[in-house]
Amino acid sequence: MSAHGPTIPMTSFPCGPLTGTAEVPGDKSISHRALILGAMSVGETKITGLLEGQDVLDTAKAMQAFGAQVTHHGPGAWTVSGVGVGGFAEPDQVIDCGNSGTGVRLIMGTMATSPISATFTGDASLNKRPMARITDPLALFGAVAHGRSGGRLPLTITGAADPVPVRYTTPMPSAQVKSAVLLAGLNAPGQTVVIEKEATRDHTERMLEGFGAEITTEETDEGRVITLTGQPELKPQTIAVPRDPSSAAFPVCAALIVPGSDVLVPGIGLNPTRAGLFYTLQDMGADLTFENMREEGGEPVADLRAKYSPDMKGINVPPERAASMIDEYPILSVVAAFAEGVTVMQGVKELRVKESDRIEAMASGLRAAGVPVEDGPDWWNVTGSPRRGNAGGVPGGVTCASHLDHRIAMSFLILGMAADQPVSVDDGGPIATSFPIFEGLMGGLGADLRRTEDAAA
Ligand code: S3P
Repeated sequence: MSAHGPTIPMTSFPCGPLTGTAEVPGDKSISHRALILGAMSVGETKITGLLEGQDVLDTAKAMQAFGAQVTHHGPGAWTVSGVGVGGFAEPDQVIDCGNSGTGVRLIMGTMATSPISATFTGDASLNKRPMARITDPLALFGAVAHGRSGGRLPLTITGAADPVPVRYTTPMPSAQVKSAVLLAGLNAPGQTVVIEKEATRDHTERMLEGFGAEITTEETDEGRVITLTGQPELKPQTIAVPRDPSSAAFPVCAALIVPGSDVLVPGIGLNPTRAGLFYTLQDMGADLTFENMREEGGEPVADLRAKYSPDMKGINVPPERAASMIDEYPILSVVAAFAEGVTVMQGVKELRVKESDRIEAMASGLRAAGVPVEDGPDWWNVTGSPRRGNAGGVPGGVTCASHLDHRIAMSFLILGMAADQPVSVDDGGPIATSFPIFEGLMGGLGADLRRTEDAAA
């Protein structure tokens, strides 16, 4: 079973050129934050372009359980009437965050400095993921957590009745950890400081500023030092969520490896803390251009145009770029399978604790599909083979396990579009967590995706 729905085996058949315009949905990271900060402000926040994937819907439901009023008005259009900083009510039900690490971790931070208790759970994937990285810093505020061994879900947090502000250096590059501490700091008196050695996505900081919090970021020898003054009154906002670069990655990468393709992916956020994949693809020699560069809602935005790129070369992906493309390594490994030579991906230990162990999941599927892959604890290499007439390319002809991980499922389905033989996934259900229109959108560009019941037809 997928998080909230039935198992959906799917097959991707080799297809002709992908062409047209791919309007991908709203940014998942920004959507979660818009709902959470809307719930923490006093008055009505209006949101358009909200991602209506299951992960975000679970966060919307959680905000209701804590007392906010969340209303759906039409596609992507939502309002949140918040309860104010420190105004969360104790939920009378278990908070089920489904597949979403971002949802559960940010919400645990948000409630940890209020004198209430809440119990959190998720699906089989989320309940395996490490939560001590969140509950450890929350304990410094005075919150108490009781979970399963290894700090895993289901777990109960009792928030601090008299929270103290915290100065915390994140032990791993994680926007979720940083954000959980900042959101907890909202209801602590005085200044909460988070220091991160490597910059991770900064949507929480940008949005807190937008909602009227006093927050500064300083680049120092220690790293990025983010200082938040607690107990502000957050003012409701009107938020237009930009389209998700992590979803754009799929049609962009598909176009690069399917012969003859030319795809436009409009309105994609190029926040430097998120855009690493696109620069990496350009470094590999991809025909990927940024058109109509502009600024929207304080974020750099462009229309991406991706064309079939038969002459890509494997590169050493700069490890310092990892945080800005952390969710994109699975689909990058698929592109790497069609690029000449070796693509080296280092400094990516965090990939082992995502919705699945993404190095293991991709390495085993790619090997089965005929692609040489080597891996170690925090690195992996993919040796590519560009298609040259009847030679080269990727054999395919396999069924891969998606391990309840949307990005693994989508990556293997993209592989099937350019491989010699179809590629199947055991379960495409998790795709609905982040990219519910993936099947129709890719089909509209020319992909041949079928649910397995239809695959034999
Ligand atoms: C996210 C942060 C990243 C990323 C996830 C979304 C966020 O996780 O992988 O998909 O919205 O803050 P980590 O904080 O674990 O790196």
